[in-house]
Amino acid sequence: MILLIIFSLLFLYFFDLFYWKRRNLPPGPLPLPLVGNLYLMTDDVKPGYKMYEKLKQQYGPIFTFWLAKLPMVTVTDWKLIKQHFIKDGANYVGRPEFPISIEIRKGAFGIIESHGDRWIQQRRFALHILRDFGLGKNLMEEKVLNEVTAMIETIKKSPGDVDMQNVFDASTNMAEFLELKDRMNKHFKMAAEPIGGLFGMYPWLGYFPILKGFKEVVMKNWVGLMEMFRKQAEEKLATIDYDSDEYSDYVEAFLKERKKHENEPGYGGFEMEQLDSVCFDLWVAGMETTSNTLYWSLLYVLLNPEVLKKIYEELDQKIGSDRIITTSDRNNLNYVNATIKGGQSLKNRP
Ligand code: HEM
Repeated sequence: MILLIIFSLLFLYFFDLFYWKRRNLPPGPLPLPLVGNLYLMTDDVKPGYKMYEKLKQQYGPIFTFWLAKLPMVTVTDWKLIKQHFIKDGANYVGRPEFPISIEIRKGAFGIIESHGDRWIQQRRFALHILRDFGLGKNLMEEKVLNEVTAMIETIKKSPGDVDMQNVFDASTNMAEFLELKDRMNKHFKMAAEPIGGLFGMYPWLGYFPILKGFKEVVMKNWVGLMEMFRKQAEEKLATIDYDSDEYSDYVEAFLKERKKHENEPGYGGFEMEQLDSVCFDLWVAGMETTSNTLYWSLLYVLLNPEVLKKIYEELDQKIGSDRIITTSDRNNLNYVNATIKGGQSLKNRP
């Protein structure tokens, strides 16, 4: 009798895993219990996109990849990407919740992994503040130019060959920024590994002694980042001037908005946990993307000396060599603009 029950339960489990929950999804490789398709991410298909290429050849432009228990419908053809995510974008604005993320963020906070009203409110607020930095006050430009000046100095001081990826990542010697970069790199490395995917979906794996160490690495990097952000926010809180509407950075803008909502439950969506998560999201989304775009664009330019020559000519003609380029030069630098756009589209192709 017990055997029959066990057999029936196993039958139901595998029926669900192999057929029932896949029946309405695009085709894809067979998901295994617990790991889904993560078993496909072997060393010979690293880093990831080679695996997707293989799956595309096997199953066509739309297939399902099971990230542990999460079915990821993967669209690989640009016409279909355009059709779904641009023309029909409103139907695709949702994001999955990763249990480890919810555990570390202390809820569905932030922008990247939030949804519904919080996502709308926080996305709007972020766009408003970031735009504001670029408009009128030009705070953004001021900060970018400081970084560019530091970057040029770093290059000038470097004897021999320069590792531009490192230079783009961090030209300043701000200890906290370098620590952030280091933690962020470790975080990304871990997240891209199958073990990272497993912990993302099943944080409870950390209770098993043999796997405890992996979870500790994830926690150390991610929680460490959140603590860093909170510490800086608290330092800002100690000196903030609520009488003035001005703000000089995102954290200050957030804290002033929080103050306006202080009589609402959860401070109207402006909880300190939300601030920790938004800081994390803006760094995660903005750091690698920007430095990789710069890095790859530079590489493409170096591999095409005729392009480099034309850039020099335009810069010599329009700017000269005795001053730094600013945003107001943008409209005069057609060739440089076209090169940047070309770099942006090229780097998205494997
Ligand atoms: C060249 C640089 C960048 C590239 C290629 C890039 C690319 C992307 C892509 C492909 C998405 C996903 C969009 C989607 O799922 O609909 C995204 C989302 C996002 N990016 Fe960027 N990004 C860049 C720079 C930045 C910067 C500098 C920041 C922050 C200051 C940033 C913040 C975000 C945020 C917060 C999201 C999530 C938006 C949401 O969920 O509504 N990104 N980015």
